[in-house]
Amino acid sequence: MRFWLASTPVLLLSAVLIVANWIAKPLSTLRPKVFVIGLSKTGTTSIGDALALLGYKRLGWKDIRSRHLVHTWANGDYGALIDQTRFYDAFEDLPWPRMFREMAELYPDAKFILSLRRDEQVWLESMRRHVGRGAWQPYAWFYGATEVEGNEATVLSAYRNHTADVREFFADKQERYAEMNIDDGDRNWDTLCSVAECPQGRIPAVPFPKSNTATHWNHNVLIDFMHWLWSWTITRIEEWSAASYYLGGRPNTNVILRACWSVIDVIEQACSELYFKLAVQQQAPLEVR
Ligand SMILES: *[C@@H]1O[C@H](CO)[C@@H](O)[C@H](O)[C@H]1NC(C)=O
Repeated sequence: MRFWLASTPVLLLSAVLIVANWIAKPLSTLRPKVFVIGLSKTGTTSIGDALALLGYKRLGWKDIRSRHLVHTWANGDYGALIDQTRFYDAFEDLPWPRMFREMAELYPDAKFILSLRRDEQVWLESMRRHVGRGAWQPYAWFYGATEVEGNEATVLSAYRNHTADVREFFADKQERYAEMNIDDGDRNWDTLCSVAECPQGRIPAVPFPKSNTATHWNHNVLIDFMHWLWSWTITRIEEWSAASYYLGGRPNTNVILRACWSVIDVIEQACSELYFKLAVQQQAPLEVR
């Protein structure tokens, strides 16, 4: 009797994992991948929204486990990021901008879009507001500082360095690369359609998205709320545990943490796949010009 009581949670969890694993199979209809590799506040969400309109299955900051992925990335542990690439065909926001070399090698047919702002100072000002909402240690990994105030030169140099690194890398791979400027409005469809698959190869007859927040989590108040609650909770626990894990931690605790992450990974991927199947894939086809 004791044995059965003790093993019930294990059996239940195993059953949940088997079902989740089955639901979380990657779609076989994914297209050649598109990576948006501009830094924060360069319009990556809008470009992601545009790709979503084109029917791409997009992974962005608000979707899943971004904070966790940033920690694994910063510690040179690319396993979790690479695993995510199996499920999507469009990627934007951190930490993807700093993975372009690895992704270009891993996916020889992938395309890359560097999003930029026309005016560096405008970008810096957006960053000041963005980062000012709350210090987050990982900002330092991308921008050389956790706040813009007093670090303007450093943050700007991070932006310039990134632009230079990307341009240098793609100099001899121009067919895989485009630059976009979110201030260009509808002209961005032309650029986007030069690297992404547009319906019948034509330009969509809708305005180019311009938003600060992803529009595709906007289907059902209840689902969206549950998604928010889940991801808020999980990402915070994961961020905290990732920090402890990579700061040394204790071997025994680390084994347990890795096991927990694997469990969360499968369940979360299953939720995400379900969401795409139920909500996103029912979009009406896009009108073209
Ligand atoms: C940008 O590159 C320069 C030259 O390599 C380097 O000195 C500087 O620290 C870099 N800036 C950041 C924020 O990493």
